[in-house]
Amino acid sequence: MTRLSLRRRPRRNRKSAAIRDACRETTVGPANFVYPLFVHERDDDIPIGSMPGCMRFGRRGLLAEIERARAVGIRMFAIFPALTDELKDPRGSKSFDPAGLVPRTLSEIKSRWSDTVLVTDVALDPYSSDGHDGIVGPDGRILNDETVEVLCKQALCQARAGADVVAPSDMMDGRVGAIRDALDADGFAEVSILAYTAKYASGFYGPFREALDSAPRHGDKKTYQMDPANVREAELEVELDEAEGADMLMVKPAGAYLDVIARVRAATALPVAAYQVSGEYAMLKAASERGWLDERRVVMESLVAIRRAGADVILTYYARQVGEWLAEV
Ligand code: PBG
Repeated sequence: MTRLSLRRRPRRNRKSAAIRDACRETTVGPANFVYPLFVHERDDDIPIGSMPGCMRFGRRGLLAEIERARAVGIRMFAIFPALTDELKDPRGSKSFDPAGLVPRTLSEIKSRWSDTVLVTDVALDPYSSDGHDGIVGPDGRILNDETVEVLCKQALCQARAGADVVAPSDMMDGRVGAIRDALDADGFAEVSILAYTAKYASGFYGPFREALDSAPRHGDKKTYQMDPANVREAELEVELDEAEGADMLMVKPAGAYLDVIARVRAATALPVAAYQVSGEYAMLKAASERGWLDERRVVMESLVAIRRAGADVILTYYARQVGEWLAEV
């Protein structure tokens, strides 16, 4: 080795914790997180088998969990409802019931903590007896424009109950613009839209569908969610959602799609969000429980990688846990 090649020694900037801390390019912490929580109509909390540590919460349990998370700096929450089968129908009518589970939950949280940012999922799957994000037509196809009409009602219902951010996760075409118009026409110009811009037809949603009992009863979601093989197509979705008035753009899942996050980051000036989904959580949990991985290390590494790829905001089931870890030191 020549002397010249050793004049640059990158290790000098790694030689102590203080220097490493000073030179760190990416940080991650509670301010970046949205904490997704499941709520059901019962009073008790039921653990979700494939997501150890996560629950379908009853009213009291949910409020207690939010309080715990707030204590370590989590300020944004996404609420997902688990409905019993009797409440589901082919058109997902309960999705815009003002007396429904989500509106009741939102107003209760808001009345306690008005500074909490509440994000709601706009899609029909928890309400649909077919388990699809949209309305299924007689021939089995998912009806785009009919679905968008219902999604607008759902988003309005959520806004009226106190949602700060509505997050269409359904992947119907044109829904962001339609929801923006509906919100504006009803006096909700301040309600934001977090668009699931590049949401892939992914196997990593398995545990979530178990949590909500929302798996499609027949077929799959490939006619509306994106093909995991595509990334150029994500740029087209960015262009549309931006033009339709989205305030933030999301990539989902996160860990296996870091290149997509980076592409979306480069294609927009809007804030970018990424969803570390249920299957990513389940993998990290399962290996950690077996002692095969050091949970805290790999969770922090997975989250900093998502930030490094370009995400500002991360939806993660680890939000409260990470807040607690960071508060310890
Ligand atoms: C449905 C929705 C899904 C998730 C969030 N919203 C599942 C799906 O599209 O089937 C997945 C979240 C996760 O897996 O953690 N609109």
